[in-house]
Amino acid sequence: MQILIANDTHIPYAQTICDTIDESARQRGTGIAKRTPEYITTKIQNGNAVIALEGNEFAGFCYIETWGHGKFVANSGLIVHPDFRGQGLATKIKNKVFEHSRTKFPDAKIFGITTGLAVMKINYDLGYEPVTFSELTDDPSFWNGCKTCKNFDILTRNEGKMCLCTGMLYDPVEKEQKKQKHKYDSKVFTRLKSIKQTLFLKKEKDNKK
Ligand SMILES: CC(C)(COP(=O)(O)OP(=O)(O)OC[C@H]1O[C@@H](n2cnc3c(N)ncnc32)[C@H](O)[C@@H]1OP(=O)(O)O)[C@@H](O)C(=O)NCCC(=O)NCCS
Repeated sequence: MQILIANDTHIPYAQTICDTIDESARQRGTGIAKRTPEYITTKIQNGNAVIALEGNEFAGFCYIETWGHGKFVANSGLIVHPDFRGQGLATKIKNKVFEHSRTKFPDAKIFGITTGLAVMKINYDLGYEPVTFSELTDDPSFWNGCKTCKNFDILTRNEGKMCLCTGMLYDPVEKEQKKQKHKYDSKVFTRLKSIKQTLFLKKEKDNKK
């Protein structure tokens, strides 16, 4: 299985990707926003998509969107072809697209909205945390994407504040702060101090002799 940043040679898969998303949405009977082959093609052309292929056979896809003038990034449109599900492929695709997003947009907050347990689990493992919609982008073009979801009336009824999807967010600044906090371990510093004292004080004593 190859998991690649999609390029122009993958444009012919755009229709299959859309058909697979549509078919899955129908079967799940729940909300998945519709995508057009033109939209998928643009994502591929801009180097903002990840595709999984088994030989020449389409296996999975996900793409990056930027919102709020690049302050937010979403990894959307995750799809694994039914023939390749349950083998950890979505996890690998999401890892690849996450890594690509962090490299290409290092300062952006990465978020997603989903009703899917599998996606929640994958996001959580990547370091995303569940948040209210108020923490996500207020870019209207993002929320307009929900118009093709069958639950859009629920979002509208709640004035865009909540819906069936759970919002999940990876905030690089918060993560860095937490990492810094984690880095400060008093036990490590006490031990280091004691090692230094033993070494240097011993040296001092030896010099005095
Ligand atoms: C959701 C989807 C992408 C999962 O693909 P996949 O390759 O089977 O997922 P993985 O094998 O990587 O599984 C990831 C984790 O989620 C769990 N999982 C997979 N499908 C699940 C499901 N339907 N319900 C609950 N958990 C599920 C797996 O057990 C795994 O957990 P583990 O790491 O503890 O073993 C795939 O089923 C799909 O394309 N569905 C239709 C489109 C869709 O729902 N997209 C998401 C839109 S937000």
